[in-house]
Amino acid sequence: MVHAIDFQDVAKAFRGSALNAVDHVSFTVAEGEFVTILGSSGCGKTTLLKMVNRLYEPDSGKITLFGEDISRADVVKLRRRIGYVIQQVGLFPHITVGGNIAMVPNLLKWDKAKTEARTEELLALVGLDPAEYRDRYPAQLSGGQQQRVGLARALAADPKILLMDEPFGAIDSITRTRLQDELLSLHRDMGKTCLFVTHDIEEAFKMGTKVIIMNEGKILQYDTPEGIILHPADGFVSSLVESARAKEAFWEKFKS
Ligand SMILES: Nc1ncnc2c1ncn2[C@@H]1O[C@H](COP(=O)(O)OP(=O)(O)OP(=O)(O)O)[C@@H](O)[C@H]1O
Ligand SMILES: [Mg+2]
Repeated sequence: MVHAIDFQDVAKAFRGSALNAVDHVSFTVAEGEFVTILGSSGCGKTTLLKMVNRLYEPDSGKITLFGEDISRADVVKLRRRIGYVIQQVGLFPHITVGGNIAMVPNLLKWDKAKTEARTEELLALVGLDPAEYRDRYPAQLSGGQQQRVGLARALAADPKILLMDEPFGAIDSITRTRLQDELLSLHRDMGKTCLFVTHDIEEAFKMGTKVIIMNEGKILQYDTPEGIILHPADGFVSSLVESARAKEAFWEKFKS
């Protein structure tokens, strides 16, 4: 079976560091799966994600997307086929919101009417009124609004693979819940393959059809949320699950 994403023994160390930021990682993602990557700060989540669209090259190992070895792919074409929401949002400051969203459609030379319709549709989807926001510049938006434009931009050209690096980090919990639900229904309807980084355990277990738990560059467990909760692979994973349970116990106290 051809996997959407396949990592075989992939390692990456940054210059000057004795440790591997990503340490001999192997996993596969079936097409249509929504995989969340959970782990504490500095464990290698962003590094792993950036190797999928070759913003970083691995030192060793092999990455294939739909059976194609990406080290041999044309890097520009590869990136246009992959939606990417970066952790620091990264909108182009001198280009309007509409222009940012239309970036890849323009590179792909979509006709103007199709691109405009798509831009409006996506702004509405992420909860920003097109009439109000399309012609603003990123600096004229709040941090959470910028993140939502980042998500719209990643979805613009309807990529089969979507990489998201803490896309909801700067968003209040009400909007965040709504966007999580939107993204889940989008995923259900369009069958995209998603890799979604978060350090929020509830978000990881809510969004993921499967969850990767990382620590110090390694994958400790890769399973369904249920599999992880019922059978944590080691002490680190069980303490993570316990911390979520402790939070739940806190809210139980206020139940009427
Ligand atoms: N460009 C870089 N040069 C050198 N070291 C780096 C670079 N990028 C990341 N690192 C190091 O690699 C390790 C993994 O970093 P990475 O950004 O992948 O972590 P992360 O899991 O995404 O963390 P966070 O949750 O804080 O975003 C860290 O120790 C970090 O300091
Ligand atoms: Mg990161």
